[in-house]
Amino acid sequence: MLNKLQEEIIDLKKEKNAIILAHNYQPREIQEIADFLGDSLELCIKTSQIQDKEIVVFCGVDFMAETAVILNPHKKILIPDQDAECPMAHMLSAEEIREYKKRYPNAAVVLYVNTLAEAKAEADVICTSANAVKIVESLKEDLILFGPDKNLAEFVAQQTNKEIIPIPEEGHCYVHKMFTPADIIYKKEKYPDAEILVHPECDIEVQELSDKVLGTGGMLKRVGESPKKDFILGTELDMTTRINIEHPGKNLVPLFEEAICETMKLHTLEKVKNSLLEEKYLVTVPEDIARKAEKAVQRMIDITLS
Ligand code: 13P
Ligand code: SF4
Repeated sequence: MLNKLQEEIIDLKKEKNAIILAHNYQPREIQEIADFLGDSLELCIKTSQIQDKEIVVFCGVDFMAETAVILNPHKKILIPDQDAECPMAHMLSAEEIREYKKRYPNAAVVLYVNTLAEAKAEADVICTSANAVKIVESLKEDLILFGPDKNLAEFVAQQTNKEIIPIPEEGHCYVHKMFTPADIIYKKEKYPDAEILVHPECDIEVQELSDKVLGTGGMLKRVGESPKKDFILGTELDMTTRINIEHPGKNLVPLFEEAICETMKLHTLEKVKNSLLEEKYLVTVPEDIARKAEKAVQRMIDITLS
């Protein structure tokens, strides 16, 4: 049952002709009022398909909301808390990418969606954790500048026969860096029959001890398809909430209970309500940057849907 504040948000959504999109890491109370929940790729595709709504309230982090703006120049994209930034997305600047391009003129530039719009404008193509291997394999170039997540770069290098240069050298997600091989050994002892699913942003030693390396959308799908009951999840804590809602009969165990993305949790019901009421905070991307970045994002969508 929804609470009073959640009911008010649902009414306001209708009044304002708005839609609420939320990433899989949002807390339960926000997941419950979202029109659409998804991983970064699903949110990208969904925003590009929205036709009849004027306002999109985006409960995620900065790079996700910016991508929604890039794909929807004529809609109002609002973020309930302006400080909801992904630290990894700030680890690679457009200036640095231009320097790398000078050093490696024959390389293709593949950027993780966890980048700011200025960086995306320098990319040949964008990828997410769900499609990184497919995107890299689709390119004619054998040399790839890939950033900012070093672990995802290494995962892609293992899955393809391309030469991958991580840019910058040590880009990472502080949340997924929290997991250690010892966490897997400990949890595996407690749940010997569990399937271990970890995100490609985890360290390679953690990936190697898992059963499958998947993005958040892939994890949700896998839990639904697997005959197993117990799953150990190596990703942000609220992914267990997300999967629990969809698959209440399964037992989701976090690999580490303190793996929380602090900025994802800045959005609250109160802030979502204010966002709708006052139409704040408007996310913007300079037009020239948005149009350049759009080419790289659209190329990703086209390859993914092909
Ligand atoms: P997904 O695309 O797998 O949802 O990942 C987004 C993210 O930020 C992971 O930390
Ligand atoms: Fe960024 Fe990591 Fe949070 Fe994902 S979990 S949004 S990569 S800080």
